[in-house]
Amino acid sequence: MIVPVLFSLFAVCNAQQILNLKDFDVNTGTKISQVAPYAIYVSASTDDTTLLKQINVKTTDNQVKNLYDLSRNHIMQNTGLLQPFVVNVTTEASISTTLSAEQMGKLTGFLYITTSKQLTNNHFLVYNVQEAELIKVPTDDYTIVFLNSNYSILTSQPFQSSSISAWSQTEGSSVKLYEGCPRDDAEKENSQFFSNPAVMINGKQMFFPVVEIFSLSLGAFYFKSSKGVQFVISNEFTDVNNRPTTSKITTGLYMKPITVNDRKVSIFTGHDDKLNGTIGVNVVGSVPANANFSVTYPIKWVTIPTNIIQSWSIPEISDRLGLDTINSVAGEVFVQYYMIQGNQSINPVTTTMLPGRQTTSRGIETTTKSNAIVQLFTSFIITILGARYL
Ligand SMILES: *[C@@H]1O[C@H](CO)[C@@H](O)[C@H](O)[C@H]1NC(C)=O
Ligand SMILES: *[C@@H]1O[C@H](CO)[C@@H](O)[C@H](O)[C@H]1NC(C)=O
Ligand SMILES: *[C@@H]1O[C@H](CO)[C@@H](O)[C@H](O)[C@H]1NC(C)=O
Ligand SMILES: *[C@@H]1O[C@H](CO)[C@@H](O)[C@H](O)[C@H]1NC(C)=O
Ligand SMILES: *[C@@H]1O[C@H](CO)[C@@H](O)[C@H](O)[C@H]1NC(C)=O
Repeated sequence: MIVPVLFSLFAVCNAQQILNLKDFDVNTGTKISQVAPYAIYVSASTDDTTLLKQINVKTTDNQVKNLYDLSRNHIMQNTGLLQPFVVNVTTEASISTTLSAEQMGKLTGFLYITTSKQLTNNHFLVYNVQEAELIKVPTDDYTIVFLNSNYSILTSQPFQSSSISAWSQTEGSSVKLYEGCPRDDAEKENSQFFSNPAVMINGKQMFFPVVEIFSLSLGAFYFKSSKGVQFVISNEFTDVNNRPTTSKITTGLYMKPITVNDRKVSIFTGHDDKLNGTIGVNVVGSVPANANFSVTYPIKWVTIPTNIIQSWSIPEISDRLGLDTINSVAGEVFVQYYMIQGNQSINPVTTTMLPGRQTTSRGIETTTKSNAIVQLFTSFIITILGARYL
């Protein structure tokens, strides 16, 4: 079951960006083919630490770090925010190990290699998803990559699951989520699997004050945000099936991960008969040839998910929204759903996304356990982000 999941990560990231440890050749060593300068990050949450300590990254200007140290190279203890290992311009880096091919072949961790542009962007951050952490993205343009290499097999839940909850965003800001790793060039329009403001069927966008808890089962995904957002991320699975929504005007996400069986999922709307309104979905995904996705309730709508959003909506609300994937065990599907309950038909408003950057950014803040840590961390991160340029 592990193998297809690792493949899926490969498919969405450039092969130069994600290097699976199991693919390294222990005899020859592996030179990283990216042109320096760039940064290396390591995610290997459930690999044996004694094995990770026997794998080194070496550069031609004599920097050496083992992968255990790199995977725990946090900006601060108790947060998942990783420090980059910088490969300097005109140097090269390679991986070497004393492990056997068999030991190496069982590792599930990976290296994430940035581009030069990402290295020099101080609004580009990389997290390893671990225990619950509050992430506050400043009011500026940020790209935040989340890595999840949790292959813990103690539960029957999908591998590499991250839950996102306690979302808080103010109107006028914008957040888009994409699968895989960011590239230097802009994403295709409407290729995000979730956004707020959300895409509406008439080509307009609508901001939702509430975002329901959701779960992603992905090795890598990223946020592009402007004007700030905050949420809690943790390395656990949350099943959205049969969940009631928490607000009358709200949006959320259902993801069917690759290798996970097809199933019928219901989202309960808490519909008040006295109110009418609108319910809708935006679907993206990548599925095998005979697969499709359908809204089964309140009325049937069928489509074949692609890498660009397909939208469906009706001007009514039922007590339940039924979502179903067909023949898509070897595929993955993302469904952003939304509901707008009111006493009249609500015309989606166009949200203007203002380009450009604000000058008030103070660096990202994250919280784990105590407030004392938050205070410290906020000032600490500025030093680190600044230090990348020295
Ligand atoms: C190379 O990178 C290391 C680590 O970031 C840094 O300490 C060192 O000054 C760099 N060397 C050059 C020549 O830039
Ligand atoms: C991996 O995920 C499981 C299930 O959510 C969690 O209990 C465990 O703590 C995680 N392990 C690591 C090392 O992050
Ligand atoms: C959806 O998939 C099922 C099973 O392959 C197929 O019978 C059905 O015709 C498909 N529907 C559409 C609209 O493609
Ligand atoms: C719609 O609801 C609001 C607030 O509940 C109420 O003030 C208003 O009178 C209602 N309008 C109609 C047409 O029912
Ligand atoms: C919603 O309900 C109100 C009050 O009953 C009605 O005036 C309006 O036409 C309804 N809108 C739609 C889209 O059904």
